[in-house]
Amino acid sequence: MIICTTVSSLQMELNKLKKLNQSIGFVPTMGALHKGHISLIEQCNNQNDVTVCSIFVNPTQFNDPADFAKYPKTIEQDLLLLEIAQCNIVFLPSVEEIYPKNATPIKQYNLGFLETILEGSARPGHFQGVCQVVERLLTIVSPNVLYLGQKDYQQCMVINQLVELMGWKNQLKIEIEATLREPSGLAMSSRNMRLTDAQLVNATAIHQSLQFIKNNISTTPIESIIAHTEQYLLQHNFEKIDYIAICHAESLAPITNFDTQTKTVALIAAFIGGVRLIDNLILS
Ligand code: PAJ
Repeated sequence: MIICTTVSSLQMELNKLKKLNQSIGFVPTMGALHKGHISLIEQCNNQNDVTVCSIFVNPTQFNDPADFAKYPKTIEQDLLLLEIAQCNIVFLPSVEEIYPKNATPIKQYNLGFLETILEGSARPGHFQGVCQVVERLLTIVSPNVLYLGQKDYQQCMVINQLVELMGWKNQLKIEIEATLREPSGLAMSSRNMRLTDAQLVNATAIHQSLQFIKNNISTTPIESIIAHTEQYLLQHNFEKIDYIAICHAESLAPITNFDTQTKTVALIAAFIGGVRLIDNLILS
């Protein structure tokens, strides 16, 4: 496994491979890797000649500086997991490497409605930060395929829009992979590392709530389902709920009346032990 810390060393490696017509798959991450990340690496290996993974805790996407400061860092373990998963190239840039001092000023992306709802409204500026780093990473790596997790449902939509805004639709394929879960149903997340054993048990209430929504959406009014879910999360020691939402799966516009013909998704964001967790489930 080749480890590159600079853009120039990475591009030197990639140019050699591109000359040989090798297809490049790319998995961007913020490290503290778990099996969910590794499932993306494995899928990337299966579909490409070369797998590139980046580990970069992007400061511009953290709207809360305390969250950035506390973001888990397990680089030695990450490299071991990537080596075992047969990742070919790891990119570990510094902040200066991604955001050079003399670079063009950071731009604003027109994300429209997507930036006004759910993660967009709960975390102002977050998706601008995601777009800034993903545009830079994609420009540097120039992969054939980009691998993302459905766990970050709205992020997938935002990155899809970024790719459209940049005019990259024809040269870059986006692959979205299913959410990997603990046996308890809890979605794997780097942030789970910050939870105590008791909080990890209570945190499964998010997935249970999503299942409850799926099982009851066709027979129960949406307002009662949401009220019930809110109570359930509070009973399981969640201290704050950012949203419990039932939306059109393709636009994230809120649903007022459920019908099985419309593709629908339920999404939850809530805090337990000061840690913000998100998850989602396709309902129909
Ligand atoms: P990070 O949270 O490290 O996630 C990296 C990728 O792994 C994302 O595409 C995410 O959706 C996926 N992922 C996370 N948990 C998963 C799970 N349980 N199952 C399957 N895939 C999972 O998302 C980011 O980093 C950043 O915002 C990034 C895109 C790298 C930009 O900084």
